[in-house]
Amino acid sequence: MAEYKLQVSTGDMPSAGTWDHVSVTLIGSDGESGKTELDNFGRDFTPGKTGIYTVKTSSSLGKLLLVKVEKDPFLYFQEDEWYCSTIEVTTPEGDPILFPCHRWISRGEYVELRGGRAMKYFDEDHHLLLAHRKKELTFKKSLYQWKPLAEGLLHTCSFENESELPAEIRFSKAKLDEMHDTTKQLGLKFKFKGMVGSTEKWENVDDLKRLFKFEKTAMSEYVAEHWKEDDFYGSQFLNGINPTSIKRCSELPPNFPVTEEMVKPFLAKGSSLMSEIGKGNIFLYDQKKLYGIPTYLYNGESLTVTSGLCLFYLNPEKKLMPIAIQLHQQPSEKNPIFLPSDLETDWLLAKIYIKNTDMLDHESVHHLMKTHFMGEVYTVATLRCFPVIHPLYKLLFPHFKSTLIINVQGRVDLIGPDGIFKISTVGIEGMIEIMRRSLREMTYSSVCLPENIAARGLESIPNFYYRDDGLKLWSIINSFVRAAVEYYYPSDADVCKDTELQDWIREIFTYGLLSNKDSGFPSSFHSIEELIRFITMVIFTVSVQHAAVNNGQFDFYYWTLNAALLLHKPPPTTKGQSSMETIMETLPNVGETVAISVLINQLSGDYSSVIPLGQYPEKRFDEPELTQMIQKFQAELSKLGEEIAKRNSQLEVSYDYLHPSRIENSVSI
Ligand code: FE2
Repeated sequence: MAEYKLQVSTGDMPSAGTWDHVSVTLIGSDGESGKTELDNFGRDFTPGKTGIYTVKTSSSLGKLLLVKVEKDPFLYFQEDEWYCSTIEVTTPEGDPILFPCHRWISRGEYVELRGGRAMKYFDEDHHLLLAHRKKELTFKKSLYQWKPLAEGLLHTCSFENESELPAEIRFSKAKLDEMHDTTKQLGLKFKFKGMVGSTEKWENVDDLKRLFKFEKTAMSEYVAEHWKEDDFYGSQFLNGINPTSIKRCSELPPNFPVTEEMVKPFLAKGSSLMSEIGKGNIFLYDQKKLYGIPTYLYNGESLTVTSGLCLFYLNPEKKLMPIAIQLHQQPSEKNPIFLPSDLETDWLLAKIYIKNTDMLDHESVHHLMKTHFMGEVYTVATLRCFPVIHPLYKLLFPHFKSTLIINVQGRVDLIGPDGIFKISTVGIEGMIEIMRRSLREMTYSSVCLPENIAARGLESIPNFYYRDDGLKLWSIINSFVRAAVEYYYPSDADVCKDTELQDWIREIFTYGLLSNKDSGFPSSFHSIEELIRFITMVIFTVSVQHAAVNNGQFDFYYWTLNAALLLHKPPPTTKGQSSMETIMETLPNVGETVAISVLINQLSGDYSSVIPLGQYPEKRFDEPELTQMIQKFQAELSKLGEEIAKRNSQLEVSYDYLHPSRIENSVSI
């Protein structure tokens, strides 16, 4: 007679428990136990609790390979799903083996759990496990399928609404419910005041301040106070919601004929544009990618999207100042170069158009495509190509939690036929086209922060906190990934012969990059170093980069004068004709502004169910070495958090979007 002790843990989220009958069968190298019901006195599976059970067999089962879990109805009540966290089995020989589950189990469904240390395909030493692995992947590939987002765009999962998502990835709905509540609350406040659907124009700047009666943050109010100021405008291209766009300028583009005479008054006394370019103090934002993007038909008339050029000067006070703006690519008499010395409202309008185009690019590409949708590519490839026992599945999956559910929802809310991007200058089709162009241009080095910063010549520009915090986070993530990857892949040969890993990267290259070799993305891995870099990039993208381009949306976009998704009038073609009235007529109307506000409020909300970067509440690794690596990772993040808090306490405008406690482990909002 042999006894196996089982510790069975139920998740601690609401409704995780079940009244149903749960049975297990232990499968070992020398035989199987009978199907044994887990039944103690009283209710067995309550949220957050661990029950202890015994499975008896006539003799030892040899090496314990699998735990089969089955759930049958208790009575004919309605569906009673169970969230099983882990089953820890202590064998008759006294060895504890962890079988992670971390998923919902539906009635009538059975699940076979793998336990013990993470295994690659070629580490498997039992034919039953090899067969199980093969069966799991065949099933996963039929369950998770690719579907193109649109022609010429990357692929996503094929599920169209959250109810289609398999139990395995259907996480707690608590966050979604919280998000729906947030949307509802602000929406209701606006509705109550008759603002939803209102086609009225904002009368003046004070009228716009009505918005703060409904919702505000300290930063959104700061933005409303300082939006006109050039130094605050410049600072947003470093530490605002889109820190991805400017580059050091070593030569003026031929289509941007800024003269010495134009900008001399804004440079240090006695200096010149040429000498400031030579000193590395001139920066450029060239929006040529948006040239000719189709625009939104508003009441039968096309809106105008600009693809401007904005020149910045890093002045002796170390402030980044906009000094010249041209709103279209082709220079002409009707396309003047606006200057800070122009009529105040001309200059404000020029800055507003640059920001409108920037917001379109930010939301469609830098936020949606490069973090949400690329994050989904990594998620779907992981679900399809790695069995749950694979070390990279265990390492990566916590960074994909909630990504599918939020993206399935986002495709409806943002770019669906009635999505919010419909009320942008370029409409849904335009947003899709911006993504399409950007995907064609996207390179591997541009999504690796150290190379991105170097390629843009921004290594030394002062007060660039996105870069400072981002590079430190990159390095901390890289150290953690290096430790884990080197532990599981002792040699380059191990990387080369891991066929599941090669399949994974091939799927990412095929369905994410559309096999574009010019992108520089790998389509296979040949060395440990290549693998470490790629995994670092994936974790950085879905955590740090998403936080940088997501969390400040309300702060910077609630004040629509600072950045508008939609502009009604074409930009000025001559100088000296505008007024504040022109600006107010150009802005989105009251109904459009509140519709956009409800969305950005939802997307930047602080939710209770956040799992911060480096926290792994779901135990997946059985190896103590991995626990130590995770603890080191957490300690380094915590130290960085202290440094960032200290730095921020000395700044007029703090930058805390990349404080580790504010970064989520995965793309979840
Ligand atoms: Fe987001």
